[in-house]
Formats: sequence, structure tokens, C-alpha cells
Amino acid sequence: MKPLILLTGGLWYIGSHTCVTLEQSGFKTILLDNLSNSSLSSLDGIERILGYRPVFYDADIRDRGAVASILKSNDFSGVIHFAGLKSVGESVNEPFEYYNNNIQGSFVFFEEMERAGIRNIVFSSSATVYSADNTLPLIEEAELGTTNAYATSKLTLEFVLRNLVAAKKWNAIALRYFNPIWAHPSGYIGERPNGVPNNLLPYILDVAIGKRDKVWVYGDDYDTVDGTGVRDYIDVNDLAEAHLAAIHKVLTWDTQSFHAINIGTGNGTSVLEMIENVRLASKKDIPYTILSRRPGDLASVYADSSCARELLWWEAKRSVQQAVEDSWRFVCNNI
Ligand code: NAD
Ligand code: UFG
Repeated sequence: MKPLILLTGGLWYIGSHTCVTLEQSGFKTILLDNLSNSSLSSLDGIERILGYRPVFYDADIRDRGAVASILKSNDFSGVIHFAGLKSVGESVNEPFEYYNNNIQGSFVFFEEMERAGIRNIVFSSSATVYSADNTLPLIEEAELGTTNAYATSKLTLEFVLRNLVAAKKWNAIALRYFNPIWAHPSGYIGERPNGVPNNLLPYILDVAIGKRDKVWVYGDDYDTVDGTGVRDYIDVNDLAEAHLAAIHKVLTWDTQSFHAINIGTGNGTSVLEMIENVRLASKKDIPYTILSRRPGDLASVYADSSCARELLWWEAKRSVQQAVEDSWRFVCNNI
């Protein structure tokens, strides 16, 4: 029988891609989402790719009754826990929302998992758990430290999972994502930010389709290849495959363990290089203006990804150019 995996927050960006990858790789999935940052249109996209619609529960991880009933009425082998708020900037101004939704919500959810006897989990963590003082590339043992409520929620939950592994014999992997971007090659699912995009690639794509006039480049005086900020952009389809490898690992471990693992490519791409990639994929001019640095930004952030290779036998496969082409197709399909 196929192992059944619950994807909390599974309806939107990373969750929907992971759903497709798991379903195409011998797993069954059920999605739970409160629709706070998503819509049912994603289920249509998943259905167009798979040819069927996965089971979906409209529920909040903080709703103990709903969570208990969902966990009781299905025979889950494990959970991939995506559900959470994810804006660093918003969390600086609204810390209690992040403590409540991400930390308190996960406490409720974990307690009900324990009660239902489900102790296998892959958790969405983030590169924001690292302190700014580290040398590059970032290794998992680098110094941890947070400066905003979003990152604090991720780091807190990593520590909670460590405790649950020790005390309650859970199996847990926290995947520390770097900069997830791009879309499924079909163009049916992808990232659709509401309003003005916060992140670089969705903003450049908005300029390419004519929705915005120009890209604002935050600083060209960093010590990098062309002076602009460098990040480790990881294709969301590669990221989905990292979840496949991680859930497989937690289901097959014979000793209870916790691991935090970087999920990046190990390579950096500058802002100007990304603009050039979109120009090539869209064949549109991408005007840009250089502004001063964005407060809080680092010059370069990229992962040492050897731990993922050793523990999960996973590494990123897709090129930046290929992934930008998929994103462009997704944007064109969703205007
Ligand atoms: P997303 O917003 O597209 O998906 C998260 C989903 O969780 C949404 O569909 C939202 O409706 C749902 N959700 C939020 N609170 C919920 C709650 N209380 N109960 C039930 N559902 C709830 O985000 P994403 O980009 O797919 O990110 C998934 C996870 O990965 C998040 O935990 C995020 O913090 C983490 N992460 C994302 C990034 C990134 O840049 N996208 C980077 C590092 C880590
Ligand atoms: N940038 C611009 N113009 C823009 C947007 C971004 O020049 O309009 C630059 C930034 O200054 C930075 C780079 O593009 O140099 C990437 O910026 P993003 O905002 O896309 O990404 P960040 O690295 O700042 O942060 C992202 C997510 C976080 C996540 C973090 C690490 O937004 O939620 O990666 O995983 F936690």
C-alpha cells in the first residue's frame, strides 16, 4: 500500500509542487490548508497535472478539534509541515501573528500528532535561522541567530522538534530552504503573490509582462561579481524532490533522529544576472534602476549543500535558465 502523507499548508507554492512530486513517486497525499494565503485554484492546477484531485481539508492547524479529527480519520505515515506565515518584513511589525500562527499553531498540531501516534515529520525551515556573521558557504553547524519573528518561529520549532525526537521518539528533518523560486514545467502551478511581489524573480516577471515599469535594484556596491546582491536560488521542483527524499528518510530510519539540512544549490546568482535570465526567457526588455541598499540585506548568501547529498542523496539538478523559462510560461498561462 502507498504511504499516506499529510501536507499542512499544502495548497500553495512549495506544497503544491511537493504534492505533485510525491503523487508521481509512489506516495498518496492529503492537503490541509486554511486558505489564508492560497486559493482552491491550486487544486485545479494539481488536477490538470495528475489527472485527479487530491483530498483537501479546509482547516487551520490551530483548530485542535479539526486537526484531531483529520489525523484520526486517515492512516497517515507522516507529515510534511509547510503551514505558516512567511514574510520576514511583515513579521518584524506583527510578531504576535507569527508567534500565534507559526509557533502556537505548530504546538497544537504537534500535540495532536503525538496523540494520534504520528511521529514522522519533515518541517519547512529557512536559511534565515543563520546569524549574519558566518562565512560562506553556510554549513549547518554555522552560528544560529535570528533578528525577526519569522526566523524566530523557524528556529524555535527546530528546537521543539529536537526535544520531541529525544522525549517522544519522533523522526524529524528540518529543511532549511535558501531562495525557492520558479514553477512547474506545465505552467499549471507556481507562485502567485498577492499585490506587489516582495521577492526578486516575481517582481522581474511583473516587469516583463508589463504590469510594472521597472525593477528597483537594491544596491550595486556590494563586494560581488557585479556589485548586486547574490542569492542561492533553488528551483521549486528540485525543492519538491528534496521533500521526497526527506520523507522517505524519516519513514525508513530505524533510530529516532533530528537533522537540519540546507536545501540550496551551492551557487550564487546576482540581481543583474537574474534580470538577464528573464530578458532571455521572455525576449522583453527589462528596464531597471539602481537604488541604495535595502536595510537588512546581506551581500551574498549561499549554501554548502554537501549534507543534503550525504544524508538524502539529493542535489539540485535544474539550471537557472531552464527554471526562469518555466516561470515565464507559468506567468503567461496565468495573466
Ligand atoms: P505559501 O504561503 O505559498 O504556503 C503556505 C500555506 O500555508 C498557504 O497555503 C497558507 O494558506 C497556509 N497556512 C498558513 N497558516 C496556516 C494555518 N494556520 N493553518 C493551515 N494552513 C495555513 O508559502 P510557501 O512559499 O509554499 O512556504 C511553505 C513553507 O516554507 C512555509 O512554512 C515558509 O515559511 C517556508 N519557507 C518558505 C520560503 C520561501 O521563500 N517561499 C523560504 C524558506 C522557508
Ligand atoms: N532585490 C532587488 N529588488 C527587488 C527585490 C529583491 O534588488 O525588488 C534583491 C535583494 O536586495 C536581494 C535579492 O534581490 O539581494 C533577493 O531578494 P529577495 O527579497 O528575493 O530574497 P531574500 O534573500 O531577501 O529573502 C528570501 C525570502 C525569505 C527567506 C530567505 C531565505 O524572501 O522569506 O530568502 O530563505 F527566508
